[in-house]
Amino acid sequence: MRTITIDDDFDAWRTAALDALAQQLTPESIDWRTTQAEPALFAAEAPALQQPSEAPQIRVSREFATLLKDAAHFRDERRWSFLYRVLWRWTQGDRSVASPADEDGARLYKMAKAVRRAQHDMIAYVRFRQRDAALGAPEYVAWYEPDHDVLVWGADHFAARMGRSTWLIATPHGAAMFDGEHLQIERRRALAAEHAVDTPDAAETLWMTYYRSIFNPARLNETALEQHMPVRFWKGLPEGALIPQLVSAARGGARRVAQAQGVGARGGKAVQVEAQEAQPERDAPTSLDTCRRCDLWRNATQAVHGAGPSDARIMLLGEQPGDQEDLKGEPFVGPAGQLLDDAMRRAGVPREQVYLTNAVKHFKWEPRGKRRLHKTPAQQEVDACAYWLEQELRDVGAQVIVTLGATALAALFGRRATLSAHLGRVVTYGDKSVVATYHPSYALRQNDEAARERTVAAIVEALERARTLIAR
Ligand code: URA
Repeated sequence: MRTITIDDDFDAWRTAALDALAQQLTPESIDWRTTQAEPALFAAEAPALQQPSEAPQIRVSREFATLLKDAAHFRDERRWSFLYRVLWRWTQGDRSVASPADEDGARLYKMAKAVRRAQHDMIAYVRFRQRDAALGAPEYVAWYEPDHDVLVWGADHFAARMGRSTWLIATPHGAAMFDGEHLQIERRRALAAEHAVDTPDAAETLWMTYYRSIFNPARLNETALEQHMPVRFWKGLPEGALIPQLVSAARGGARRVAQAQGVGARGGKAVQVEAQEAQPERDAPTSLDTCRRCDLWRNATQAVHGAGPSDARIMLLGEQPGDQEDLKGEPFVGPAGQLLDDAMRRAGVPREQVYLTNAVKHFKWEPRGKRRLHKTPAQQEVDACAYWLEQELRDVGAQVIVTLGATALAALFGRRATLSAHLGRVVTYGDKSVVATYHPSYALRQNDEAARERTVAAIVEALERARTLIAR
């Protein structure tokens, strides 16, 4: 067994992994350690790795390289050995390792996805506090506990957006400091104690007063509150300390008037299925048409595949097929599709050049008289369908994804990502840019002509943005 000790970062792992590949070291023959980890008490001294006479030439696709890089930020001490196994299999010609249908591939995708969510959370939940000017730099400090190793990524983001102000973000695994010009990353643990991050400022006091005043106990929905602002982030937010007090006051008093219970569960249309079909192969369906990862297939006519060129540079991501899409088996062919076509024409984005798909591939509906009324898919259904979306993202390789509506955005970043916070902003998802906008059905639902036009204009603007991003 060879012990390879590296700094706990991707570049160090990549260099060591290339060396190991050059020496044909199998994954089972390497014990990966990091300089931060404590070695086992009586660990034998490991022989130094020989320098390879020639660095190996390894060609990987851009998507696969991005996946590896993103997954490398997943906080798990076994990540380096896992990534080496994945890379080893690739170099042995086993391309299935890059597919979500493969066990290692699925784990790789899951890790990368969790990291992207952590990146998104960091941007959304870091709250800087302004320090007393007499204390000197840094002017702003924040304490944050990211789920994964995304400090450097988040620090780059803030360095690009906070001008020349000086700031520090401390985390349990290190800190990022910006002196107005240079970013410095300190990988020491438990830095928080060294930096006073608990210095409320005047703006914060105002914000707390405001938060207290807008908090409506009668409308408290604790589940929604925790979905939008997960409990683990509360301690980094100024209002975090207030929330438990406000919630418990609401529980005890003002929320006595409970909302009426739902009118009861409605049974879906009964469909006879073959015994074989009723034993769903949930985890690894071979085709979307036979997918049983959730129950939506039962009441849908068919699964609606994405449509468009496989080398499209823009992907439009909707929510789920509607009534007409379900019957026709094509995305965006009903009224929402017509409005979208119009918006695409206005934005100069030809439909034939984009790939159109949905977060959920089966139509979810409920009967209303003779009509089938659209029903918003549950996050569980969106998550189940992420399997197919990830495959499309990989196969199509579009540079820009335009998400239409809240469900599409949540399919990439989880329910915590709100449309209001993303409108007009470009965020990244792996190596792709994401532009979020309204769903065309939202425009269709608006009775006021001016409001409808404003919504359509926002969709057009998002499409134009996507066009400029691919032109770069
Ligand atoms: N709405 C969507 O989100 N997708 C479609 O394909 C049609 C309507």
